[in-house]
Amino acid sequence: MIYSKIKKHLSITLNRLNQTRVLKLMNTQQHPTLNNIVDAFLETKHVLHTEKDLQLFQDCENYRTQLLTNKNLISYDVFGSSLKNPVYSICEKASSKPIWGQFLYKLIKNNNSKNVLEMGTNLGVSGSYILNALKDTANSHFISMEGVPDLCNIASQQFNSINPKTQHSIIQGLYDKTFAELYKKKIKFNLCFIDGNHQKDPTIDYFQNLKSRLDLPAIMIFDDINWSNDMQSAWEIIKSDQDVCYSIDLFKWGIIIIDNSVSDRNIHFNLHLSYS
Ligand SMILES: C[S@@+](CC[C@H](N)C(=O)[O-])C[C@H]1O[C@@H](n2cnc3c(N)ncnc32)[C@H](O)[C@@H]1O
Repeated sequence: MIYSKIKKHLSITLNRLNQTRVLKLMNTQQHPTLNNIVDAFLETKHVLHTEKDLQLFQDCENYRTQLLTNKNLISYDVFGSSLKNPVYSICEKASSKPIWGQFLYKLIKNNNSKNVLEMGTNLGVSGSYILNALKDTANSHFISMEGVPDLCNIASQQFNSINPKTQHSIIQGLYDKTFAELYKKKIKFNLCFIDGNHQKDPTIDYFQNLKSRLDLPAIMIFDDINWSNDMQSAWEIIKSDQDVCYSIDLFKWGIIIIDNSVSDRNIHFNLHLSYS
């Protein structure tokens, strides 16, 4: 425990010390998607947002505030568990923190992403940032996948309040069973946010399965890459995959770019956005 905390802080300190050099190096690649990620990173880190962005972020945070007072119990029996958790506690533990929501929003906006997939809807907090980012994009579509029915219902109401129903859908059920349903939709994604089921083999499977469902150049984001040894090992395998051009390790998130139009492969960068 102490060893992993020291390792975390050492790694973050090193990344912070090298950050200016790494950002310059990223820009020298002259890859549009990579440049957009750098811009999204700097805008988020240095709070360079428009009035409109700030208003949308506030809307997402108002939703979080509402959830944090909700004492309704959510059943996890879909996972074979008798556990029931109140909404406020799920929100505290599982929802993306504001800075990561803002970064997600900026990544989508700066890349003009049209089709976005999320694995791990939960209460729809990160989904709210995603839908707000897609608001002005014609014919955009957001698909989110979640196993717990009560969470799908709560998130669905929130999503309906942001964008028309035609622009988003939640696929309910355990991922083993619902991938087939996702494939039926025949959508190719510009950005995938993988934030559900943080285990090694499933994470690698989702990556491999989704590779053929991407509209290139595409971004994939893996949450909690340092959450366990297994997730660290999944991240090492994913970022070294033969189809990955660039990877960015933010300690919490791992981001990869897949783009067949360039020959660059497995070029790795480390940045630090936030401790949260
Ligand atoms: C960390 S939460 C997602 C948080 C959300 N993206 C946010 O930031 O607001 C992960 C979610 O994935 C769901 N999940 C985990 N494993 C799953 C599986 N095998 N099938 C379906 N859903 C799963 C959980 O029920 C949980 O709601």
